[in-house]
Amino acid sequence: GRPPDAHRYGRGVPDAPVPELFGQEFATDPYPAYAWLREHAPVRRTTLPSGVEAWLVTRYADARQALADPRLSKNPVHHADGARGKSKTGIPGERSAGLMTHLLNIDPPDHTRLRRLVSKAFTPRRVAAFAPRVQELTDHLIDGFAGRGSADLIHEFAFPLPIYAICDLLGIPREDQDDLRDWAGMMIRHGTGPRGGVARAVKKIRGYLAQLIHKKRLGDGDDLVSALIRASDHGEQLTEEEVVAMCFVLLFAGFETTINLIGNGTHALLRHPGQRAALQGALARGEHRLLETGVEELLRFDGPVEMATWRYATEALEIGGTAVAEGDPVLVVLAAADRDPARFDGPGALDLARRDNKHLGYGHGIHYCLGAPLARLEGQTALATLLTRLPDLRLAVDPGELRWRGGLIMRGLRTLPVEFTPR
Ligand code: HEM
Repeated sequence: GRPPDAHRYGRGVPDAPVPELFGQEFATDPYPAYAWLREHAPVRRTTLPSGVEAWLVTRYADARQALADPRLSKNPVHHADGARGKSKTGIPGERSAGLMTHLLNIDPPDHTRLRRLVSKAFTPRRVAAFAPRVQELTDHLIDGFAGRGSADLIHEFAFPLPIYAICDLLGIPREDQDDLRDWAGMMIRHGTGPRGGVARAVKKIRGYLAQLIHKKRLGDGDDLVSALIRASDHGEQLTEEEVVAMCFVLLFAGFETTINLIGNGTHALLRHPGQRAALQGALARGEHRLLETGVEELLRFDGPVEMATWRYATEALEIGGTAVAEGDPVLVVLAAADRDPARFDGPGALDLARRDNKHLGYGHGIHYCLGAPLARLEGQTALATLLTRLPDLRLAVDPGELRWRGGLIMRGLRTLPVEFTPR
């Protein structure tokens, strides 16, 4: 159970009506609550639904600074509660499955070494060469429902696309990809289903990856897993355990995020007909500039990552003038920072042509999203192809009926029912 004060805000609440955090209303539209926090309590100690206490950082300037602050560690050993064995942060099951040594849990110098090695294998060039395959996958998925005139874009489109894409890139054989899809699906029920289910899925993925890597070691494939095995730097290579953890984080970090980029992005376009028409016009004329700035704007406006992954204060410090104690967890609320009026003009408006758009949707600093080039490729291909092939795409339900997952770290829709003229 949830403690009775689960929605408490902490000390020093000003005399303004306090919005509720983490309820259904908040999951549907957290932005009014974030505006309140930015204004009245920009660095706020909060009890999360899990019972863990953490600081929420909501202003852009504080968020950007915190993301790059070396005193804020990613390693859960620095969590004061974690030291007492009560930590409920991070991905469930990764500890028991021996998957802790990945980029999102470590600091320099280990992080620097692993990031350099993976960057040699997961290059922008590899991603660019993958573009035709992403287009083919996208078209194949749309073929599956285009003749029907209706679809659930989460389950039939946004969910399968990223998992098949990353499986292909890693070099996971096609006949195994449906297993990976099912296990990954179990993982994203995280936050709504039993934690045990997630831990089981993590264990299955781990076992599968270990076997796959063992096989790839014997060959000389040109897939990403083989490249990771071969990557070396000053005579150093990734250990077996590091390759497994790296593949795991590539699967995990790029899966739910990209689902939500496609889901949240399509939803925002359907709710802003003027912007959507401008994008369709540009695409019809073969202009891609608006697609590129547009996907960045969709990330800022309603991005997949609501809060950056956990950070822990390794010493007493101040964020935005507020004292944070050693061992305290800190959550940087990207969704709040990216609507900060102190940084963005008219932050509540969707402007696909927005120029000055240094959003934090991919994070900032040394943990800046490694998969951003792939995410951009998938997001741009998915949205452009949907709007081009199904030009009269529309919501099939009243917007008020849409349900959001409400998962703390991630923001995304459970389903996205649409209608269109069958083709
Ligand atoms: C890190 C967002 C897609 C792999 C991050 C971080 C964010 C983010 C905010 C930083 C987390 C933090 O600082 O705590 C996104 C978004 C995506 C996306 C919005 C989709 C639209 C992908 C994809 C992949 C990927 C497709 C890989 C296939 C990673 C990895 C890290 C990371 C490995 C950790 C990097 C490090 O710690 O050095 N991502 N991501 N992401 N992302 Fe992404």
